[in-house]
Amino acid sequence: MRITFAILAVVLCATPVAAQQRPDPAAADAAVKAGFPTAPADWAARLTGDDTLRQCSVSRNSPPKDVADAIQKRELANIVYPPDNNFIGDWKKGEALAQSGYGLRFTDYPARQANGGNCYACHQLTKKEVSYGTLGPSLSEYGKLRDFKPEAVKAAYEKIYNSHAAFPCSTMPRFGTNKVLTVEQIKDAVALLMSPESPVNTGQ
Ligand code: HEC
Repeated sequence: MRITFAILAVVLCATPVAAQQRPDPAAADAAVKAGFPTAPADWAARLTGDDTLRQCSVSRNSPPKDVADAIQKRELANIVYPPDNNFIGDWKKGEALAQSGYGLRFTDYPARQANGGNCYACHQLTKKEVSYGTLGPSLSEYGKLRDFKPEAVKAAYEKIYNSHAAFPCSTMPRFGTNKVLTVEQIKDAVALLMSPESPVNTGQ
């Protein structure tokens, strides 16, 4: 018995990655759907994904250039800008939403408060907050390093509204497009990154 296992282990370990079967995307979609038999109707879109997610999944997040360009163009086109083109809100509210992971979880229905952005789950922002994830780059001194330039302020708004418009197949959520955050909340997150008085830029 032990020998059989040993042989099996050797065979499995020796199988080259290329020879392993790729999971069938349709079977994966069906399994996800079957896992949520009682999901409310407004979850339906979250279970299938849109064209961008499909193209990213099929190419394992490395789409060929023409597909990447098409993703970027499509995602840029769905960004909604503040009517007065003022991208900077209140950094204190931005810090609160960066800390908050509230929203879209099983326990958040029906919604009892505004969604958060959960930015700290993936980014360092202020020095004071020592608990943060590192999936995304550090955003410490983000505005200062960009001289608070107006085009960098607009780019930060676009990045948060729709991460794929700047970087196709990003693993950062599309907060505006997917209606996780409102335009006002995104402006607050931009303020956290781009206001000179924000602790992100004063180094606190
Ligand atoms: C699930 C992880 C995740 C979350 C949550 C997340 N991000 Fe990101 N973010 C990333 C990753 C990964 C990158 C780098 C790849 C890219 O640029 O898309 C990134 C990039 C960025 C960039 C561009 C950085 C640069 O080099 O210019 C900004 C700005 C940013 N995030 C802001 C935010 C803000 C603000 C929030 C919260 C509202 C947030 N992120 C939430 C993962 C995340």
